[in-house]
Amino acid sequence: MSLRALLFHLLLVENPVIVIFKEMSRLLEQINKDTIPQHLAIIMDGNGRWAKAKGMFRSMGHENGTKAVREITEACVEINVPYLTLYAFSTENWNRPKIEVELLMRLLVSSLKKEIKLLDKHNIKLNAIGNLDALPSKAQKELRDVIEKTKNNTKMTLTLALSYGSREEITKTIQEISLKVKKGLISPENIDEKLINNHLYTQDLPDVDLLIRTSGEQRISNFLLWQLAYAELYFTDVLWPDYTKNHLFEAILNYQNRERRFGKTSEQL
Ligand code: IPE
Ligand code: IPE
Ligand code: MG
Repeated sequence: MSLRALLFHLLLVENPVIVIFKEMSRLLEQINKDTIPQHLAIIMDGNGRWAKAKGMFRSMGHENGTKAVREITEACVEINVPYLTLYAFSTENWNRPKIEVELLMRLLVSSLKKEIKLLDKHNIKLNAIGNLDALPSKAQKELRDVIEKTKNNTKMTLTLALSYGSREEITKTIQEISLKVKKGLISPENIDEKLINNHLYTQDLPDVDLLIRTSGEQRISNFLLWQLAYAELYFTDVLWPDYTKNHLFEAILNYQNRERRFGKTSEQL
């Protein structure tokens, strides 16, 4: 091979940026635009282990995790996912060391401040679910601000699950419905799935079609128990800060190759 040909080969054929780009367009081309999951939910896990493997503090894992949030949000806009829900902080995460909880809350505030422009640029509406009153007042204020500023955006709804626990959500729902029954506003016979749905934090969201969890853990960790009833589950070993568009496209393709039967037989579909 001549020197020129070798240079050409190294620059254009084996250049890692070009290789990643080619892989991305290859995956993107295979995605069926008609069967994109309407509601994609992600348990973003593995920040701590990512940092530990690099000899860093856990906080660095969380900071790098925010880059993956940006990349995946943009990828979802690109393929027209209308609802993206990200598990960012669970009710159980309050039990972590105080210093880590404080850092996560500070990171939430700084990310919201930073990303408002990106949300607007992509026409994304921000939403939040969970026991938001439990968040520090600064985080509540920033969240309210961004939700208000993006409320007319229509391309995608990005929901952050914060201080979210599915059992807490279902308990709150039962309390609210019971109170209405007590006041005579509804009778027990009128309690159906729709009514329950309308009392959940997720009342404005459709059921989850695809749930992705990173970092190799295969559990739900108190996330959207009701809303995941018929979701397709996808687990990957990739740690959240390493999760890229290509990983997401692979997950979507995997989802699109499944048969969602909803109790029926193959022949009935
Ligand atoms: C996910 O990463 C982020 C949150 C739960 C806030 P982790 O912090 O759980 O990372 P691991 O599981 O310890 O690696
Ligand atoms: C679940 O991750 C919560 C979030 C991703 C926010 P965890 O890392 O807290 O989950 P468990 O406790 O290991 O199952
Ligand atoms: Mg974890």
